[in-house]
Amino acid sequence: MSQSFRVLTRSFSSSAARQAAIKNVTIIGGGLMGAGIAQVAATTGHNVVIVDTSEDILKKSKASIEKSLQRVAKKKFAENPKDGEAFISDVVGRLSVQTDAWEAVKNADLVTEAIVENLDIKKQLFSQLDKAAPEKTIFTSNTSSIPIKEIAVSTSRLDRFGGLHYFNPVPMMKLLEVIRIPETSDDTFNALLAFGKAMGKVTVNCKDTPGFIVNRLLVPYMMEAVRMVERGDATPRDVDTAMKLGAGYPMGPFELTDYVGLDTCKFILDGWHAKYPDHPLFEPSPLLNKYVAEGKLGNKVGEGFYKSKK
Ligand code: 3HC
Repeated sequence: MSQSFRVLTRSFSSSAARQAAIKNVTIIGGGLMGAGIAQVAATTGHNVVIVDTSEDILKKSKASIEKSLQRVAKKKFAENPKDGEAFISDVVGRLSVQTDAWEAVKNADLVTEAIVENLDIKKQLFSQLDKAAPEKTIFTSNTSSIPIKEIAVSTSRLDRFGGLHYFNPVPMMKLLEVIRIPETSDDTFNALLAFGKAMGKVTVNCKDTPGFIVNRLLVPYMMEAVRMVERGDATPRDVDTAMKLGAGYPMGPFELTDYVGLDTCKFILDGWHAKYPDHPLFEPSPLLNKYVAEGKLGNKVGEGFYKSKK
């Protein structure tokens, strides 16, 4: 560790520094969720670095952000496309990309991880970041279903660790679940709530329970729909029509499963089933397993329960 790095680390260790508003945000993982989080953070005035393993992935992340920003600008600046262009270049100007996570966290107030849902990989990542990031940096995970505490124990900053769980598509979905583990300090939790507000999100406070609030209700609901089809009680199309027109949901459960990704749903379900083998709502689904084995992962590959445009 260099002398200047040590001095930098020490100078940020006061609690006053820890409470300072979050300005510099590092997002680890430039996939669908990471790109969406980065887009909203940059749109709301934060300096954002997106980290992923290759330049190619990062190029795709930037392209997806620009595409989404164009959709936003088209609506927001319908009367004045020039202002729309200025808006996009302003937001893009606050975004940068990096393949070196160590470098990317050196100036971060907040790190949010949105990588593959694998506990060992997440732990490996955070234990490295813990050495690279200054003391003030708050670490968060956007995991859908892995307990935050199980990830946080890979670091020496349990008091500065929490969960920020976003929803897809991040630019459109207003909710942010803010999760604390028993060790999360009040300073950290309040900083995360303030950050959520600065991102334009409505926050809800969550404990570190399986699926937090939304996924604990949503995933069993989606799986009950799949089981209904497995029993031959209804077709996916009829279930979707019923839930959209009879319950006012914007998407039916099969459309939503295709949107979220069948592999993601399977991963969540399998994890919960392994932990709670007797829970009937967490039972594996033969139909879901078959589709995933066939590579029908949903919209991202062009086919899930339905065929879709990629
Ligand atoms: N970026 C920017 N704008 C977007 C967008 C994006 N990615 N997606 C949608 N929009 C905006 C655009 O303004 C679009 O208009 P445009 O097509 O003219 O550009 C407008 O939304 C309407 O979009 P669509 O016509 O494509 O479709 P909808 O009216 O159905 O809206 C939706 C799309 C907002 C996704 C809506 O269907 C919805 O709310 N669906 C439910 C999504 C949901 O439940 N998400 C949570 C999933 S669970 C999760 O993420 C947790 C994880 O842990 C599993």
